[in-house]
Amino acid sequence: MSGKGRGTGFGKTILFGDHFVVYGLPGIASAIADQTVAEIEPSDRYELIDNRPATEDYKEKKKGEMDRSMKLLLDYMKIDVEKNPVKITLSGNLFCTSGVGASAAMATSIARAFSDLYNLNLVDKQINRISYEAEKSTGTPSGIDNTCATFGGLIWFVKNLEGGENTIEHIEIKKPMDIVLANTGISQDTKEVVLDVKNKKEADPAKYDSIFRDYEALVSEARNALDDGDLQKVGELMNRNHELLMEITVSCDEAEDIINIAKEAGAPAGKITGTGRGGYVMLLTPGKELQDKVAKSIEEKGYRTMKTTIG
Ligand code: MEV
Repeated sequence: MSGKGRGTGFGKTILFGDHFVVYGLPGIASAIADQTVAEIEPSDRYELIDNRPATEDYKEKKKGEMDRSMKLLLDYMKIDVEKNPVKITLSGNLFCTSGVGASAAMATSIARAFSDLYNLNLVDKQINRISYEAEKSTGTPSGIDNTCATFGGLIWFVKNLEGGENTIEHIEIKKPMDIVLANTGISQDTKEVVLDVKNKKEADPAKYDSIFRDYEALVSEARNALDDGDLQKVGELMNRNHELLMEITVSCDEAEDIINIAKEAGAPAGKITGTGRGGYVMLLTPGKELQDKVAKSIEEKGYRTMKTTIG
């Protein structure tokens, strides 16, 4: 055993498919460069020190989810922190709020850090599996967040509803895409929101089936548009995806406000990304100049932003 184990996990943004992926429809998501870092060392008692930068209410709102996630991770890895106490310290530049895959980034970083500490030599596929188990703290995760957190890159993802291997294809795009991620400042419990969408779907199957069919057609078009490097089409489809997310009730006033500000500043498209009802909004902003302008306009209205590039 080395003195200290260290591991990292990427944040993510979902370009297409938030919520729909839970039901086995394809999603397109990308890791972002920002990461969570976990460091683990033997100690005389179990301790988790969370130094991650986060939205004000994030850690409080996510406490239940984080505790469940840690328990699932430790059980799955068969690590007994009562018998062998450790101090886990979380840090990194991933600004945590819902929508950015922070829980999966945390689980991936901790799994890697345990692997490093105990010389387990776990490969990415095993790390991804552990991170997925921890993601069950969110109820019925699709697995898209842990896949991005572990493997990085831009992916086409389809959850295998029978429990077998998920489809994970890496997408190469001709031209990197500049985006702005804007934080509504509201944290949400993914489990609650996913469950609420499920209940609404069960209460009105005809409406939801039609929305889901529209989404399925849209995501295939999105894949083609990305393969062709047709950013205008990608933008149109993102806007349409956002409308579908509004129909399944996962947008909120703050997200709509951000999208309006961004569009007035020239962004061709914007959508909720991740859990919704808060969290992050993704704005398509081709070109550094537009990216800066859109981010500045949003910040001037008091929302925090992050500029990043996909692909
Ligand atoms: C959360 O980042 C994305 C959701 O689609 C849930 C999931 O995929 O597990 C809302």
